[in-house]
Amino acid sequence: MTIAADPYEGPVVLPDDPSFGPGVQIDYPGYRSTRWRAPKDPLVTLPEELHRIDGPVFGNAALEPLDNDLTRQHDGEPLGERILVHGRVLDERGRPIRDALVEVWQANAAGRYRHDVDRHPAPLDPNFSGAGRCLTDGEGRYAFTTIKPGAYPWRNHDNAWRPAHIHFSLFGRLFTERLVTQMYFPGDPLFPFDPILSAVRDPKMRELLVARFDASRTEPEWALAFEWDVIMRATPFES
Ligand SMILES: [Fe+2]
Repeated sequence: MTIAADPYEGPVVLPDDPSFGPGVQIDYPGYRSTRWRAPKDPLVTLPEELHRIDGPVFGNAALEPLDNDLTRQHDGEPLGERILVHGRVLDERGRPIRDALVEVWQANAAGRYRHDVDRHPAPLDPNFSGAGRCLTDGEGRYAFTTIKPGAYPWRNHDNAWRPAHIHFSLFGRLFTERLVTQMYFPGDPLFPFDPILSAVRDPKMRELLVARFDASRTEPEWALAFEWDVIMRATPFES
């Protein structure tokens, strides 16, 4: 059996929402869950005051030292390809965002989440929970040590498989600076078959979701490295 291509590849005509700008589409038929997650009503613009309110503020006291090392959260080491994922969190003008809370979650090397809803018949890893978090430093830098997640099937369409990815949640300096997104690995053969990645219609924007292999940060005899920067802007998007 071949892997089914994204069956909705091609132009999808939906009204542009001025809050998101032309060409940005949040209800994408090929990714079935967006039917329930995309707003049905016009977006509500947050009051100007909220754009000026600082926070949420996360202090280092709330984090444990190993929160950003997903390979050392249990007695033993998880199976899989050890990797370092790092990058910077920046605002629209390229300025670093310090003390941003960066949270990640991911499948294990076999493509299985430690979650009740995940019934994929692949093994759980007793030494891998698949979740981590850290705060950015003064230059907006974050870093995680983890293992490369495996691809997994997800029943969105016939023989649907997700490319390997890491989920990211970011809280910036303002209540309106919040981003939930996914990071992909370069050269994944599943890219053309993934409606979630295809839902980003602009190829240049899709490329921004793919990390860069970073030979300079690989650690000899230990781990490969990938670099991925994130640019945050307040929502709803300002013109
Ligand atoms: Fe996922």
